[in-house]
Amino acid sequence: MTERTFSIIKPDATERNLTGKVNAVIEDAGLRIVAQRRIRMTRQQAETFYEVHKERPFFGELVDFMTSGPVVVQVLEGEGAVAKYREVMGATNPAQAADGTIRKLFAKSVGENSVHGSDSLENAKIEIAQFFTDADIVG
Ligand code: CMP
Repeated sequence: MTERTFSIIKPDATERNLTGKVNAVIEDAGLRIVAQRRIRMTRQQAETFYEVHKERPFFGELVDFMTSGPVVVQVLEGEGAVAKYREVMGATNPAQAADGTIRKLFAKSVGENSVHGSDSLENAKIEIAQFFTDADIVG
């Protein structure tokens, strides 16, 4: 089934000028970037986006990091896009990520792990709607 998932290229990757290299891995995997915008996230946006993690000990650090520099928010489209992008990203901790995955190639640590991808189709819809309207997405 053709799906859409939500992606963020995080500040550790934009800081090292890796947007194009990350996008190349995404496109080589057969996913299509159907919306993309470079933004500086506000604390409010980051806190809302990561609401589910607010009781975690790393929440403050996560919000600080996500607002520390530019991010690139994206909508990716393709066959089974949610699961496919999680495969392409690799494990959250780059030390455990498989060869060829974005996190194995580029991530610095479990916190500064270069990319985010939705964990379910339901969350993908919620996350996309936080940053894009239907008119922004050109499939
Ligand atoms: P992400 O997919 O963006 O969703 C939640 C994020 O929390 C996750 O990627 C990690 O970057 C971050 N995270 C998870 N575990 C830790 C941790 N132990 N310390 C710092 N950040 C973490």
